[in-house]
Amino acid sequence: MSREKAANYEKNWRQYDEWYDTHKSLYQTEIKALEKVMPSGWGLEIGVGTGRFASPLAVRYGLDPSFNMLKLAKQRNVNVIQGFGENLPFKNESFNFILIVFTIELVDDPPRFLKEAVRTLKKDGALILGIIDRNSLWGEFYEQKAAKNESYAGFSFFTPEEILEIFKNIDVEFEESFQTLFQPPPDIKDIEQPKRGFGKGGFVVLKAAKNN
Ligand SMILES: C[S@@+](CC[C@H](N)C(=O)[O-])C[C@H]1O[C@@H](n2cnc3c(N)ncnc32)[C@H](O)[C@@H]1O
Repeated sequence: MSREKAANYEKNWRQYDEWYDTHKSLYQTEIKALEKVMPSGWGLEIGVGTGRFASPLAVRYGLDPSFNMLKLAKQRNVNVIQGFGENLPFKNESFNFILIVFTIELVDDPPRFLKEAVRTLKKDGALILGIIDRNSLWGEFYEQKAAKNESYAGFSFFTPEEILEIFKNIDVEFEESFQTLFQPPPDIKDIEQPKRGFGKGGFVVLKAAKNN
């Protein structure tokens, strides 16, 4: 099932990528929230897509099953690797941080997927997730779209609390979170500044550190 969902991106890569050009304030708002938690060092984005986050956030490596998505990510100066997050082609303790944005929602077994990511993190390395909070106006908006097979088809949305529960079982310690997208869907006019925590914004960034 995960492979079928991934195949959609191979087909619809152009449409997916162009969305960021037609939602500029929203895109910049999400980048600002991610910037709050980005560490330095060797980083990997799993489900890098076309590199819309890896590139501006200086994440050196990006993994994705979709060749067409990766072609664009490469043009955006990301070092790309074709593959699935369930089986990463990296040794234990390779990275200082791993970023996963709008991808955990597509996988069949999220705890297993995250455990595999943590395997490749150095001790104290950071696991960073960017999600749409299911319990927000944006979560409701995208769940409706997904149900009609429009954008985000095949997504199973999470709440931040659900991700924190998974963190407890995969050898990481939750550190901090930021939220943004306080203006209502379908789009925002002004770029927003992120705030700490979650529960109010549509987009939530969660950061955890690998236990020693
Ligand atoms: C919604 S897109 C997000 C792309 C990028 N992170 C962004 O926010 O623009 C989801 C991406 O995850 C990739 N993907 C789907 N299943 C995957 C898997 N099992 N492992 C790694 N990546 C996967 C898709 O090919 C797609 O590029």
